[in-house]
Amino acid sequence: MSPSRSPSWATLALVLSLTSTSLLQTATARSYEKDTYRKGKTTQITASQPTITTPLVDLCSEDINMKLACHCSPEGHAKAQKASCSIFDGELPRKDANWLAFHTQTSLENLKFTVRKSGNLTYIPSDVLFTLKKLRTLTIEYGIITDIYPYAFGNLTELRTVNLPNNQIKTLHANAFANHPALDEIMLENNDIRRIDREAFVNLPMLIKLNLANNTIGELHDNGFVELTKLEELRLELNMISVLAKEYFKGLENLKVLKLSYNDVNYVGATVFADLWSLQMLFLDGNKIEKLDERAFDGLNNLHYLHLENNRLTTLESGTFTSVSALVVLNLDGNALETLSYSHILPLMDNLVNNSAILSIRDNHLICDCRLSWVYDLNNRTRNEDLRESLNKIECTMGNKNSYNSNPRQNQAPDSSFLESPLDEDGDYFEDAALDNESIEEEKPEVVFLFKVGKDKLYCPEELIGPTDGPNPRASKGILDLPWMPSGGSAIRPSSSRTLVSALACILVSSVGLVVISSVRW
Ligand SMILES: *[C@@H]1O[C@H](CO)[C@@H](O)[C@H](O)[C@H]1NC(C)=O
Ligand SMILES: *[C@@H]1O[C@H](CO)[C@@H](O)[C@H](O)[C@H]1NC(C)=O
Ligand SMILES: *[C@@H]1O[C@H](CO)[C@@H](O)[C@H](O)[C@H]1NC(C)=O
Ligand SMILES: *[C@@H]1O[C@H](CO)[C@@H](O)[C@H](O)[C@H]1NC(C)=O
Ligand SMILES: *[C@@H]1O[C@H](CO)[C@@H](O)[C@H](O)[C@H]1NC(C)=O
Ligand SMILES: *[C@@H]1O[C@H](CO)[C@@H](O)[C@H](O)[C@H]1NC(C)=O
Repeated sequence: MSPSRSPSWATLALVLSLTSTSLLQTATARSYEKDTYRKGKTTQITASQPTITTPLVDLCSEDINMKLACHCSPEGHAKAQKASCSIFDGELPRKDANWLAFHTQTSLENLKFTVRKSGNLTYIPSDVLFTLKKLRTLTIEYGIITDIYPYAFGNLTELRTVNLPNNQIKTLHANAFANHPALDEIMLENNDIRRIDREAFVNLPMLIKLNLANNTIGELHDNGFVELTKLEELRLELNMISVLAKEYFKGLENLKVLKLSYNDVNYVGATVFADLWSLQMLFLDGNKIEKLDERAFDGLNNLHYLHLENNRLTTLESGTFTSVSALVVLNLDGNALETLSYSHILPLMDNLVNNSAILSIRDNHLICDCRLSWVYDLNNRTRNEDLRESLNKIECTMGNKNSYNSNPRQNQAPDSSFLESPLDEDGDYFEDAALDNESIEEEKPEVVFLFKVGKDKLYCPEELIGPTDGPNPRASKGILDLPWMPSGGSAIRPSSSRTLVSALACILVSSVGLVVISSVRW
């Protein structure tokens, strides 16, 4: 990196620096960062000399000023395509003369700004961007840019990617990203976004990826993404979203991946995702979900991955997975499920038996009883080694007669404290247990591998076989008699046998569901 500037410019700069003591002091203060980044160059002008504008220093000379230094490629070319710039030394004002250097490089397609520790950039340099008509990729990172104002990126027609991670952005204004006919990726992760204008994402006909992960978004807007009909990936993980509504996801007819992991969702209502009929992956892990409406996943006919791990589910409606029979991964680890019955997994059976589908239910509160006997059958029947391995790891708690009431849903009687959710925020379980340590010792729940128990030894009182629990597990002589078994030309097709049950359940649940939804939405 030998100095390539013109001799006259070098002289001017040298004179300037020698005639100003304050400038020299500043130069010393800067020397550490400067040296590491610029490998020893010592001369510079500052923004306090705005009159020196001709001749313009080539942006790519790596010498324009200590506040802004760019490395370009192809190197030494009059028309560079790529520039990677660093910003040093305090704030770089909008009207700073350094920005003029961009007039020397108007063919840039790829531009990156990294704000160094000593630097400060508080805005999108829109004035500069307007002039870069060929720009395709813009990256700005580690700035302190609190607002993205309307048309911040100048309606550029070639722009494909906007990367703005780690900029402390708080607000996205209306039309922030508008008028970019080719823009297909907006990355806004690791900011502090809490306010998104209802019209922030308009006029973006080609947007395919939108990353809003790790912000402080608490609420989405009805129709907030409605114009993003090409969007395939929407990342909203690590935010503070507590309510999900169908209206938020209107228009996302091509969405394939929706990440809502690590938010504050505690309830998923009916048909919330019903407009997302292309969705293949849904991530709801790491929330506080206590209840899923039986129709929560209605419409997700193409869903392959459903992540529900690390939530607070204690029970599931029997028809919960009816509409997601294409699943190849269902992860329910780390919940408080007391059981997963045959009727729950019935819609998934084809994939579990024939294909490489995975069902994971580790770290729950499963009870060893005949509601789990389907696990034995599935294990014998599937050709899928990975699934068998996962089934072999299923653990359950040995119950006793006192553990059951006539209705298994009311299992949280005082004499069965081991059934209580450990997620109880008041910590009641532990307190009660401590007060009542004798009975705990007597009925200490024993956690065992399900397969150690033996199918025939599973506890199986009448009460466990309710009308919504599908075929009577005790009556089944094994997998060959089960209705999902494709052979035998059985007149009872899985769908028809399920329809009646779920239709009845739907009527019940949807009327209850409506009440719940309206109260939750309020
Ligand atoms: C950056 O500039 C803004 C506006 O002048 C100021 O509020 C902020 O404190 C500055 N931050 C740093 C790290 O210099
Ligand atoms: C971008 O388009 C909007 C609306 O058409 C207009 O108001 C704005 O001035 C345009 N900005 C530029 C830099 O062309
Ligand atoms: C989230 O973003 C902050 C900056 O806003 C960053 O410090 C933190 O490491 C990020 N967390 C994750 C998990 O990426
Ligand atoms: C499972 O295999 C059976 C026969 O081997 C076949 O009839 C059935 O269509 C398969 N189901 C799936 C979902 O592949
Ligand atoms: C059970 O409670 C008694 C007092 O009620 C206490 O002395 C004893 O240490 C407790 N035992 C255990 C195992 O916590
Ligand atoms: C499953 O296989 C085991 C041994 O491989 C056998 O003892 C058991 O009867 C089979 N169970 C069913 C339901 O087919």
